[in-house]
Amino acid sequence: MEPDEWQLSPVAEPGERDDESTLRPRRLDEFVGQARVREQLQLVLQGATRRGAPPDHVLLSGPPGLGKTSLAMIIAAELGRPIRITSGPALERAGDLAAMLSNLTDGEVMFIDEIHRIARPAEEMLYLAMEDFRVDVVVGKGPGATSIPLEIAPFTLVGATTRSGSLTGPLRDRFGFTAHMEFYTPEELELVLRRSARILGIDLHAEGGAEIAGRSRGTPRIANRLLRRVRDYAEVRADGTVTREIARAALAVYDVDELGLDRLDRAVLSALVRSFGGGPVGVATLAVAVGEEPTTVEEVCEPFLVRAGMLARTPRGRVATALAWSHLGLTAPNDVPGWAAPTLFDE
Ligand SMILES: Nc1ncnc2c1ncn2[C@@H]1O[C@H](COP(=O)(O)OP(=O)(O)OP(=O)(O)O)[C@@H](O)[C@H]1O
Ligand SMILES: [Mg+2]
Repeated sequence: MEPDEWQLSPVAEPGERDDESTLRPRRLDEFVGQARVREQLQLVLQGATRRGAPPDHVLLSGPPGLGKTSLAMIIAAELGRPIRITSGPALERAGDLAAMLSNLTDGEVMFIDEIHRIARPAEEMLYLAMEDFRVDVVVGKGPGATSIPLEIAPFTLVGATTRSGSLTGPLRDRFGFTAHMEFYTPEELELVLRRSARILGIDLHAEGGAEIAGRSRGTPRIANRLLRRVRDYAEVRADGTVTREIARAALAVYDVDELGLDRLDRAVLSALVRSFGGGPVGVATLAVAVGEEPTTVEEVCEPFLVRAGMLARTPRGRVATALAWSHLGLTAPNDVPGWAAPTLFDE
């Protein structure tokens, strides 16, 4: 990827998958951070193991790149059971789901990624499967159709979603445990980076790690991506060691600033402040001003800018906060909001 196209999206890029599987933590004790979720999950898993029964169904909820897929695989590994992986969009036809469910073996883990995107008929089939370990297979069509109940093996469903708010009530209620993943602290990200550097054979100094961690938007996927870019720089322009100076110089090349804003984030803020007087302005107009798709601005830039307290989403449009003005080295007019209440991720 050219530095010009470089964006700090928390969403995985094509080609990144291989790296991700190398760096993915395999067991719960390798999983850095999320202490609360880890403790809760450990109890769920150990309790079930003691009883010799599959644990309750688990819902993993949180923004992209925080480790939901990793945790799903860890659950299966900790239980010593196989895992079957699918996703909401892949389950368009209930028949496909019925086939998967009826092939499950005792105690198997079934992982449905993006479970909020599951089609309605499949979702309804899932209710019964989760509750009674049963599916109703409909045979025939029209008035002659009959439904044949089919027993399935007791299993554990692990669902992952970036939008738990768009899950229907009945589906949400059938999960015995919901893990709410939080953004990572810079200290936790330093641990993630230290582990990744060890696996990739990168000589990462503690200060270099801290520098990268502070600009990774609370997201392990972004931290790992920045580490790989800094490694390129360190190997090409220096002796491969990632010191603070090297990390800083590399991140400057990639236009990632001290707060983790990239070129596009700053372009959005700059357009908002310089061209529209700080707003309010509609997201479509803002996107045209920076030459991007509205969805990119909305889904890649805005969540971070809102969370960083630099941009507010108001009913009349996007507004820059005082922090946005000062980050651009400008003085805000008096009536600018000082701080934007962070919008919940689900909105
Ligand atoms: N707690 C962690 N410790 C170490 N590395 C982590 C951790 N969480 C995530 N990672 C790293 O971040 C990468 C992305 O994690 P993962 O794919 O599990 O995120 P996700 O929440 O499933 O994202 P998405 O919503 O985009 O599917 C992993 O490959 C792994 O390298
Ligand atoms: Mg995932």
